[in-house]
Amino acid sequence: MTTDATTTSHPTSKAPGEVLVDVRGIKVHFPITKGIIFDKVVGHVYAVDGVDLQIRRGETYGLVGESGCGKSTLGRAILHLEPPTEGTVTFDGQPISTLKGEELRRRRKDLQMVFQDPMGSLDPRQSVEALLVEGMKAHGIVKDAKEAQPRLRQLLADVGLPTAALKKYPHEFSGGQRQRIGIARALSVNPELLVADEPVSALDVSVQAQVINLMSDLQEEYGLTYLVIAHDLAVVRHISDRVGVMYLGGLVEEAPADDLYATPRHPYTRALLSAVPVPDPVVEDSREQILLSGDLPSPANPPSGCRFHTRCPWRQETRCDTERPQLRVVDGSEHKVACHWAEQIESGEIQPHSVRTEIDETGAQLAANAEAERLTEDLPFA
Ligand SMILES: Nc1ncnc2c1ncn2[C@@H]1O[C@H](COP(=O)(O)OP(=O)(O)O)[C@@H](O)[C@H]1O
Ligand code: SF4
Ligand SMILES: [Mg+2]
Repeated sequence: MTTDATTTSHPTSKAPGEVLVDVRGIKVHFPITKGIIFDKVVGHVYAVDGVDLQIRRGETYGLVGESGCGKSTLGRAILHLEPPTEGTVTFDGQPISTLKGEELRRRRKDLQMVFQDPMGSLDPRQSVEALLVEGMKAHGIVKDAKEAQPRLRQLLADVGLPTAALKKYPHEFSGGQRQRIGIARALSVNPELLVADEPVSALDVSVQAQVINLMSDLQEEYGLTYLVIAHDLAVVRHISDRVGVMYLGGLVEEAPADDLYATPRHPYTRALLSAVPVPDPVVEDSREQILLSGDLPSPANPPSGCRFHTRCPWRQETRCDTERPQLRVVDGSEHKVACHWAEQIESGEIQPHSVRTEIDETGAQLAANAEAERLTEDLPFA
């Protein structure tokens, strides 16, 4: 039997650039229940609340946003690990929700996930070889460990580990090496899409770049499409072709990466990027710093209208708290923003003001300071 055991490139028959993953109106609402005998639904966590996005074959889509904004849930919904409350996900022209049984199992092979904590996702009792062979056998790529050998050696070489690693167990590796094993395991079944959920968040800053660079190299070699999720804007900056920014279950901005970092247009993205310290002291002193007041509202009780209106320094009397802004193209480019006043903010016609708040001035300032500090910690630009 001829297998593609020694080849590393994925046979991409389709042209790069076409839409591989098409997400339409996805909502994932988790019921909040109460009661001892009969669970009564008393509310919902609106974890993902109406997201449209397209991922093109061969590209890297970076998804960013504060912790709790729904990134992981969206990633899981795309892989159909979390059944959506509403909406559809089409993969390579096929609606995923219509797949069942064997068909779904086969499709699963094409959609792989890399997790934040490789230790948690790798069975500690299995050797690296056993971990890698398991998936390949399950998907009929190899019959047994013997047949898998050439492919295993190639996989390890590709993720930068020695062949000797095959006989070792996950605890014998460093965090960065374990993440390489997690990546090898995802690649072992020749997927088309890799969803990497905070792939480097648990790693030392010095190792983060190595793993990101490895992912970047592998993408070309294996012809992969990536969805890379991170709470840290710096992590996805260099690897992403396009970036989407999430806030409370929705996308608030989406743009080619360079464009987004150079000219963020949504007030939330501007605030996130303004909290990142710039190494140049002259720029650092003169640059715009936007402080957000208040905490991230609960996704169980999201604000009306624009979900960002409770913290937005540009908030207007009309529309902001009553009408939910759609993600729309601004300037006829690929840059999309969900803000009613994006053009007026860009032109300077609307100026930022301090956010009105029920608590007294000192309280508001303290909250703003704490928020700025927290955001700065979250977004290291080392
Ligand atoms: N299985 C679940 N049941 C109930 N609530 C959940 C579940 N999974 C996630 N959530 C909630 O949904 C929101 C979004 O979570 P998540 O997608 O993990 O955000 P992120 O990955 O951006 O940190 C959070 O408020 C979280 O507590
Ligand atoms: S719609 Fe209003 S509240 Fe929302 S981001 Fe734009 S200006 Fe701010
Ligand atoms: Mg998450």
